[in-house]
Amino acid sequence: MADRRPIGIAMNGVTGRMGLRQHLLRSVLAIREQGGIPIGDGSVIWPEPVLIGRNEHKVKAIADEHDLPWTTNLTEALADPGVRVYFDSLVTGERQRTVREAIAAGKHVYCEKPTASDLATALELARLAKDAGVKNGVVQDKIFLPGLLKLKRLVDGGFFGRILSVRGEFGYWVFEGDWQPINRPSWNYRAEDDGGIILDMFCHWQYVLNHVFGKPLSVQALAATHIPARWDEQGAEYRATADDAAYGIFELDGGIVAQINSSWATRVFRDELVEFQVDGTEGSAVAGLRRCRVQHRSATPMPVWNPDLPPTEDFRSQWQEVPDNRVFDNGFKTQWELFLKHVVLDTPWHWDLLAGARGVQLAELGLRSAKEGLRLSIPDLEL
Ligand SMILES: NC(=O)c1ccc[n+]([C@@H]2O[C@H](COP(=O)([O-])OP(=O)(O)OC[C@H]3O[C@@H](n4cnc5c(N)ncnc54)[C@H](O)[C@@H]3O)[C@@H](O)[C@H]2O)c1
Repeated sequence: MADRRPIGIAMNGVTGRMGLRQHLLRSVLAIREQGGIPIGDGSVIWPEPVLIGRNEHKVKAIADEHDLPWTTNLTEALADPGVRVYFDSLVTGERQRTVREAIAAGKHVYCEKPTASDLATALELARLAKDAGVKNGVVQDKIFLPGLLKLKRLVDGGFFGRILSVRGEFGYWVFEGDWQPINRPSWNYRAEDDGGIILDMFCHWQYVLNHVFGKPLSVQALAATHIPARWDEQGAEYRATADDAAYGIFELDGGIVAQINSSWATRVFRDELVEFQVDGTEGSAVAGLRRCRVQHRSATPMPVWNPDLPPTEDFRSQWQEVPDNRVFDNGFKTQWELFLKHVVLDTPWHWDLLAGARGVQLAELGLRSAKEGLRLSIPDLEL
């Protein structure tokens, strides 16, 4: 067995959807199942999670199932010298309090997005971490999706020529809760609980656009609350006060126009839950979570507009599949591995709390744009 270099991780929020499935099961425990993270000298980084939860019954049940230590006391978990990393996937509004406490305790911090519900707080957390000299990171899982990795490969290889535009469609139907159970937590639909699709998704669009195509320079958004009443986890009706759909236009560096619809009130007639079409002078691509298809300039057919006849061409068959050419791991796990290597070995890391604040900035500007009916430029952020 390889020599283990243990690293204690206090994980808060593992009773939640993301904390349990993506972070504990598919990332941290999956890393242990694969035998740790090899670091090249024959030894492996070995995560040692300590689970934190408000509800003793719930957190203990998860801990017992996986034979892990647990506590309901954050301060106590942070006082353990073996715990070097604090991870947070609590509801957004709770994050700033716990992250502040972890930074004050000298722990490295890794957390879900949005890092905070407003830009001032997100920047303050980034500053606190920098001043305390702790390593810090935010989850930016979408850039590790196979479909987007393929898209990035095409961009880097010059496939598109000059990129003209990007059109993104994200969304699916989130059940109201009256006649079928809800498929997302109810806080997402209440503005007073930091819900809303702009705060949730614009954080993702910021780093996706920036990483794959170019820096977002301006935003113009229209927000809607299409479904005004929903039913919560207890079956009680409540007023949905947050936006459940956002129609955004972003100008990117290099003159690229990106348009992204995000909606929890749409039914899927796509191949995947998110899809991006990219059009460039030399070719176009359509990428989803996993697949990516291309049409080169040389293979672009000349369609004829004739509504008097049924379609004569099968447009989808005129695209070519981009091969995997490698094995793709879970994006959350890939980012965890990079973060833990960054903590242990000081390897390069790009997704810090300042990067997280840029996502919150785009969300805040998107909400303001929607409220005031304006197109807003996006100032550079620095600490
Ligand atoms: N990266 C992604 O793709 C992605 C996807 C969904 C959600 N998220 C983010 O992850 C976070 C959690 O989302 P989720 O869908 O897992 O939510 P969830 O409601 O399933 O889980 C929330 C967690 O916070 C805890 N919690 C709730 N209220 C609390 C309070 N008042 N005090 C302390 N703890 C409290 C709950 O016990 C639970 O552990 C959110 O910030 C969300 O924006 C990220």
